[in-house]
Amino acid sequence: MSGTPGENRIVSLRTSRVENFAELSISDRGPGIPAERLKDVFEPFFTTKAEGMGIGLSIARTLVEAHNGQISAVNAPEAGAVFRVRLPIARHTAAPAQRALG
Ligand SMILES: Nc1ncnc2c1ncn2[C@@H]1O[C@H](COP(=O)(O)OP(=O)(O)OP(=O)(O)O)[C@@H](O)[C@H]1O
Ligand SMILES: [Mg+2]
Repeated sequence: MSGTPGENRIVSLRTSRVENFAELSISDRGPGIPAERLKDVFEPFFTTKAEGMGIGLSIARTLVEAHNGQISAVNAPEAGAVFRVRLPIARHTAAPAQRALG
């Protein structure tokens, strides 16, 4: 959002439950992501920034998938990008039976 006027530099985080997932939606008011790039932004070393490395979203995807979650990017209808992270909600299980020590 470096090109966004200061008063509009707002990032919003929304949480909700979708089926058995906890969902986090992170929305900004930047320029959004060109439709033809949406599939590329999570690829390692994909960057459009002069000094970017292109690893931020690749690391984010690796972390989320390591926790059996999903991450995706879409554009907001008004303006800006929305990143959606879904993480499976852990099920509570009964305390494990005490293991016999041998
Ligand atoms: N919120 C966003 N709005 C618009 N485009 C984005 C947004 N986040 C990422 N992108 C696009 O996806 C590309 C890849 O993002 P990523 O975070 O992986 O790398 P980077 O920010 O370019 O560099 P690094 O994170 O390694 O410093 C960015 O260069 C940019 O083109
Ligand atoms: Mg980044």
